[in-house]
Amino acid sequence: MIYRAWLDYNVAVVPGQTLTIEQFLAYSRRFGHIAPHPSKSTRHPEIPEITLLGINKFGADGTLNTAIYRRGAEGWHTDGAYDAEPFKATQLYALAIPSTGGDTFFSNMYAAYDALPERLKLRLDGVRGAFTYGGRRKSQALLNEEDRDWVPVFHPIIRTHNETGRRALYFDPGKILFIEGAEAGESDALIEELTSTMIQPEAEYRHKWRVGDIVIWDNRCSVHKAAGDYPPHEDRIHWRVSIKDNAAVARAAAE
Ligand code: SIN
Repeated sequence: MIYRAWLDYNVAVVPGQTLTIEQFLAYSRRFGHIAPHPSKSTRHPEIPEITLLGINKFGADGTLNTAIYRRGAEGWHTDGAYDAEPFKATQLYALAIPSTGGDTFFSNMYAAYDALPERLKLRLDGVRGAFTYGGRRKSQALLNEEDRDWVPVFHPIIRTHNETGRRALYFDPGKILFIEGAEAGESDALIEELTSTMIQPEAEYRHKWRVGDIVIWDNRCSVHKAAGDYPPHEDRIHWRVSIKDNAAVARAAAE
């Protein structure tokens, strides 16, 4: 039932939970295969499938590490577009929430597709974008030095969701490099147009966290961003898992 509601609404919230890591992992596996995130420095020291958000925010000299504090707040994005098999879902479990701020925003990419002018629907049909970790800004602060060499991957910009069959805009301004087959000027103009029109205000959801909330979002048909605005000396801590499609993982293992 939760899975069906999640497919229908893109984001599912289960409030008021008290979970061990094992219980959180077991629940998360109902949605697919949990894959460790490429940011090794923010993984749980014993359980690589768990990414820790909001931990080790301050360096030894007391300076705020903004890459950790503002993780996810650099702009609207979909998780894992840098991967040949992007994360199907991301799920967070809230352990500590600040007294103010720290919300997460979501926006529906079915609505973004529906709102595209016919001209763009036609131009982008069957067209792929090249994506990489850090995109054109090369923001890779959370990666270890040895993990910064990425080969761009290609995904259709208009994507048919493999479970709902609905068409969605698949676009991430912070990870896209260029639009395949378009000359540089047109590619830049398309990226700019999609960036400025992808968010439909009536298709947004803003989550105000409470301790014990589990929130899962569908990266195939939504984008999200953290507000990145809470008092830095307060805790905002989540367990996070990145979830891939079971069938895709099995296919890749067989290749
Ligand atoms: C993310 O962008 O993946 C994290 C969102 C959040 O911490 O609110």
